[in-house]
Amino acid sequence: MDFRVTPSRLHDATITVPGDKSISHRALMLGSIAEGRTDVSGFLSGEDCLATAAAMRALGVTIEQPDATSLLIQGVGRDGLQAPDQDIDLGNSGTAMRLMAGLLAGQRFSCTLTGDESLTGRPMGRIIKPLTLMGAAIESDCDGTPPLQLSGGLKLHAIDYDLPIASAQVKSALLLAGLYAEGRTSVTEPAVTRDHTERMLASMGADLSVQNGTVSIVGGQDLRGCTVEVPGDLSSATFIILATLLSQDADILIENVGINPTRTGVIDILKGMGANLALENRRSLGQEPVADLRVRASQLQGGPVDPALVPLAIDEFPALFVAAAAAKGKTSFSGLEELRVKESDRISAMADGLRRLGIQVEETPDGAAVHGGRFTGGEVESYHDHRVAMSLAIAGTIADGEVLVRGVDNVDTSFPGFMDLMNSLGAHIATDDGEVR
Ligand code: S3P
Repeated sequence: MDFRVTPSRLHDATITVPGDKSISHRALMLGSIAEGRTDVSGFLSGEDCLATAAAMRALGVTIEQPDATSLLIQGVGRDGLQAPDQDIDLGNSGTAMRLMAGLLAGQRFSCTLTGDESLTGRPMGRIIKPLTLMGAAIESDCDGTPPLQLSGGLKLHAIDYDLPIASAQVKSALLLAGLYAEGRTSVTEPAVTRDHTERMLASMGADLSVQNGTVSIVGGQDLRGCTVEVPGDLSSATFIILATLLSQDADILIENVGINPTRTGVIDILKGMGANLALENRRSLGQEPVADLRVRASQLQGGPVDPALVPLAIDEFPALFVAAAAAKGKTSFSGLEELRVKESDRISAMADGLRRLGIQVEETPDGAAVHGGRFTGGEVESYHDHRVAMSLAIAGTIADGEVLVRGVDNVDTSFPGFMDLMNSLGAHIATDDGEVR
């Protein structure tokens, strides 16, 4: 499927965005191995999280979904997962693959984790290495990519591990494996990454310590089912924020968005570029902080982006590249080497897309210099990456002509309803069959 985007004007509105993807995955996994029931509201019914739900069901967990955003998970306890009948297909989701590998490395049974073309090309050595140090046995393709075959019946032991790259997925995988290991597992990160796993573990009664960048957990603990209220996903809100900033004069309120400080790099970067963006009505939703985000159209200004903010905005760079392209002057991004191993090589995918829309971009191994300009119409490739597709679609809303974004099916992995929501704000986005949804 393709998006056909014609220039449009957004109008003022108050909206919400779908639930947080990271928190939804964690609610499913932790709720499944907790004792008793976990009630989830605000769940993201996107394909990535539905793949995790299907995986947990295949492992013997009863999960009811009374409506799109609610789950009732009947936890089976730490040792209650059952061998699946077949390979577990995690679709497009790197988070599901890496966290599930940690969860399943210390089970009684063997299993195999696989995924789609993008996921089976992504590096898993980063989890295989430390999990192997803990005593797990994991076979991958020779270049360290999935499928992953995990051997069952092995005893895991705790390790102290210094993460070579800042990765919440690897940190979380080791904490999950740590629940099944003998002793205290400690993970030290080179830079702060999202801490949703730590927060949810704590709210399920786990004893874990977080000190000076090191998270430690003692194995053999039981989790207690709880209530999880999932906030709106700031990573999805980013596309609406971007569209609003770029619009002529829109004023949009996005209610109930997660503003966990390990995720808000995008807000700092955009504010540094001159975005009129305010956090209103700050409050807590369970274990996570939320706010309503008030965004108004703004003239953005380019400049160097602080690489220290990269882990705190890791998924937002495709959108930030579009912001840079619409800003005055040059914006330089560095420290983005991890972007090359996301759902696509996001540096080259965005450089390619922006160039096709008339923007000057110089790519570097770990970033790019983006020169502000006007978007022409044109045909661009999403490289089957949901965030690349949505970012380029937003560029299309202010382009001089029609923008065709090729291969947008994966938008549903993280932001089901993206096109409807954008169109309800005044955008003109149609699918290639000509249907405006
Ligand atoms: C995620 C962590 C990030 C992010 C991904 C979701 C998570 O990956 O890019 O979309 O839920 O833990 P890394 O931790 O590998 O950077």
